[in-house]
Amino acid sequence: MPAELAPSILAADFAKLGEDVAACERAGADRIHIDVMDNHFVPNLTMGPEVAAACGRSCGLLLEAHLMVEEPDSIIPAFVAAGVGLITVHYEACRQLHRTVSAIRRLGARPGVGINPATPADFLTQILDEIDLALVMSVDPGFGGQEFQRGAIAKLVELRSMIDTRGLSCELEVDGGVDASNAAACVNAGATVLVAGTSVFRAPGGVAAGVGCLFAKMGRSATPVDRPPSIS
Ligand code: DX5
Ligand code: ZN
Repeated sequence: MPAELAPSILAADFAKLGEDVAACERAGADRIHIDVMDNHFVPNLTMGPEVAAACGRSCGLLLEAHLMVEEPDSIIPAFVAAGVGLITVHYEACRQLHRTVSAIRRLGARPGVGINPATPADFLTQILDEIDLALVMSVDPGFGGQEFQRGAIAKLVELRSMIDTRGLSCELEVDGGVDASNAAACVNAGATVLVAGTSVFRAPGGVAAGVGCLFAKMGRSATPVDRPPSIS
């Protein structure tokens, strides 16, 4: 199964978000990554469920919400209602992680758990069997356009081994500074989903070129979808 690409809309042009999201789908991207920040867990404030719903009206792709939010329990239902199919919370932001993961699944979405660069991979040992996605941050969360931290590669290798040893189907995602210079290393380390914001939406040749360049490094051929932009 080839690795998937999840463009992060944090780097999109919010003046034409629907067009940018539709362009990702036409270019063959697999899911849309929605970065939610509360200015508490991270020093930035971004978007909420309404933006997720707008993305859902603009494409037919899986929507995954990355909640960089302290104690996210109270906002999870609104993202599920907005059509988000996968919700990732942070290990560092949840006091009762099993309870939060169970709540996401009970509400009908797939649960993911993310760890920051300074958080060891084995901190996911006790929750790995309960989740559908483990997210390795390759930057300190809060902003797009940051430099990829190479330490993420070893953590991907470690988690790939943990997942395979246990025979789990948990996805392994990497997020932050992913571009043509490190995408192949991430895939070779065992990542099954790559998140990319700047290298997709700020690509000199536009979204299709950005997606195609990453696909080439991921060992995939672009599978453009012949779909007119759908903005409702
Ligand atoms: C950072 C976010 C990432 C980021 C990715 O806190 O979680 O998803 O937006 O954007 P780039 O690819 O530009 O680093
Ligand atoms: Zn993210």
